[in-house]
Amino acid sequence: MTISEEIRRLNLPPILKFADGRDVTAENWPQRREEILGIFEEHEYGRTPRGPFEVTGELVSKREDDYANKVLTERYTLNVCDTAENVKFSFPVVFHTPYGGRKKPLFVFINFRAQTPDEYMPVEEITDRGAAVAMIYYNDVAQDANDDFKSGVGPLYPRDKYDWSKIGMWAWSMSRTLDFALSLGRYDERKIACVGHSRLGKTSLWCGAQDERFKYVFVNDSGCSGDAVTRGKTGERIVHITNAFPVWSNEKYKEYRGREEEMPFDQHMLVAAVAPRYVYGGTAVLDTWADPYSQYMSYYLANDVYRLLGMKPADFPDRRPETGERFSGGSIGFHMRHGAHFFSREDWQCYLSFMEL
Ligand code: GCU
Repeated sequence: MTISEEIRRLNLPPILKFADGRDVTAENWPQRREEILGIFEEHEYGRTPRGPFEVTGELVSKREDDYANKVLTERYTLNVCDTAENVKFSFPVVFHTPYGGRKKPLFVFINFRAQTPDEYMPVEEITDRGAAVAMIYYNDVAQDANDDFKSGVGPLYPRDKYDWSKIGMWAWSMSRTLDFALSLGRYDERKIACVGHSRLGKTSLWCGAQDERFKYVFVNDSGCSGDAVTRGKTGERIVHITNAFPVWSNEKYKEYRGREEEMPFDQHMLVAAVAPRYVYGGTAVLDTWADPYSQYMSYYLANDVYRLLGMKPADFPDRRPETGERFSGGSIGFHMRHGAHFFSREDWQCYLSFMEL
């Protein structure tokens, strides 16, 4: 069966129609994008505070001779002030910036651990390609625990006004990190990326779909409630994810347990909402819990938006991807590597190449 046949059977909500049935054109795509973001805010990830935010950084420590004297490592505490809600919150971020004259590309990376280097963050491979990386440890923003949103930034905002999920909170911290990074004046605004793996791949996608300053959005092994189409999905489903991790979504999303067909959206729309910026999904053949084929469908469908906008589409074949295949010649990319659920060096190398680094 072709992928288009598989997709047709799922009866997915179209990307290129407004909720009221109007056609989407290149001209009105920005409005459709806003509509899509509103749908995900209401039905899945919850409402995030919009600021305005003032973000300053306090330098905690610095190493000027990291990685054979090639890299400057700085640890900051970021102090964020939401001036509309009068909320203040601080969290640490570590920056690794390679030396050299011109402005550097930057990855804002949210990670599972605080230490650096880390098995998911091969600093030298990244900085040797000329890019900097700013790493956030996600538990510093809000604990990954079923704690009724009582940790980190969670309790600082009223839930009746902001029903943001932990994914929303982690995504927000990536945008605040970018606020600060841009204030340093040393990163190249045309090459700013967000990136994360698994639950933090979902986070990177939600962050990058919303925040247009991220010109590249990398989504590693994110699967359910990330970049995988939910309808017809194998492996993890809404019932599993909302039972095990009720704080990763808002309350509304739980109503769709076993009722995926009723959702006025599916995750392909979120991948599309990155357009006209670049988006790329990494998957792994053995990651059946995430379901690489349902992930592929999202990119296959979002490719239509790039065609509509006159940008270079990917040459995705109309069939399931094979192990080791990589499609990175267009404005939207995808790969399915060998092996299992992991954020590997191979994934990073694909992302660096996609950014032409
Ligand atoms: C669990 C969860 C996934 C998630 C993964 C991870 O397996 O069910 O949705 O992506 O953890 O974050 O590692």
